[in-house]
Amino acid sequence: MNQTKQKVLITGGASGIGLSLARTFLAHGHTVIITGRQLSKLEKVKAELPQIYIFQSDVTKGEEVKVLADQLQKDFGGIDVLVNNAGIMNLMDTADETNDLEKVFEEIEINFHSPIRLLHHFLPQLKKSKKASLINVSSGLAYVSFAQSPVYSGTKAAVHFWTQSIRPQLKPYGIRVVELLPPVVDTKLAKDADLKDDNLKPMPPEKLADLFWKDYIKGKEEITPDISKQLKLMSCLAPKFIFNQLNKQAVPSR
Ligand SMILES: NC(=O)c1ccc[n+]([C@@H]2O[C@H](COP(=O)([O-])OP(=O)(O)OC[C@H]3O[C@@H](n4cnc5c(N)ncnc54)[C@H](OP(=O)(O)O)[C@@H]3O)[C@@H](O)[C@H]2O)c1
Repeated sequence: MNQTKQKVLITGGASGIGLSLARTFLAHGHTVIITGRQLSKLEKVKAELPQIYIFQSDVTKGEEVKVLADQLQKDFGGIDVLVNNAGIMNLMDTADETNDLEKVFEEIEINFHSPIRLLHHFLPQLKKSKKASLINVSSGLAYVSFAQSPVYSGTKAAVHFWTQSIRPQLKPYGIRVVELLPPVVDTKLAKDADLKDDNLKPMPPEKLADLFWKDYIKGKEEITPDISKQLKLMSCLAPKFIFNQLNKQAVPSR
């Protein structure tokens, strides 16, 4: 794979998986730009990694994404790699009539609409790049849904199918489309979800980034570290069995 220096934009890169991917791209000599909503988190990363570029930008706000795209065109002459990583996970009981629809739709907005929005605004830059990649971070739950987070599972399956569909469409423009489907990873998102199942031992984000990198430089398109590989296989061989295994408790305990 072409390993010349690339300009990499990672949404939600100030923590968790995004930050580990940022460190990995930096360690391989690439230029890395990270975004997020909270400036203090971005500044903390900048203090530790002075070579990183930070931009406060909310992926759900079309105008902010457009401003970001214009700024990166001006400052860097455009990006080569877009990593759609920003995401949230809500546990919910759909049978609860007091559910807040705004919160439900926010999850769809961040996890599914925003990768489409980011690609739309950065498409001209990726088309111009001689080594363009789009990397969408979905989830192993794109293969087998997790009942305690039904909307999250839906958004990740949507990202999975969207990614598969756009891959051949973008190929003629030299844009490689990669999907990273992480297993449970030890981040704030996983801690907040407070997953109770002992089978779901979280992977350190640094290990995920290492496994990602090995497959990424080999040219793999669908990267399924650890248990995500088994979820993919089992979703084909025994979908009902693996769904029941993963969903012994369908309703969140709190
Ligand atoms: N952890 C897991 O077990 C796991 C498993 C499979 C897939 N994933 C996926 O991996 C991705 C990263 O998650 P993570 O586990 O690393 O969680 P995390 O540590 O909570 O990181 C998520 C990041 O996204 C940012 N973000 C959230 N909403 C945003 C918005 N509207 N605009 C810009 N940035 C936003 C957050 O920063 P701000 O709050 O400052 O904006 C945060 O830095 C997500 O897409 C997630 O679904 C995670």
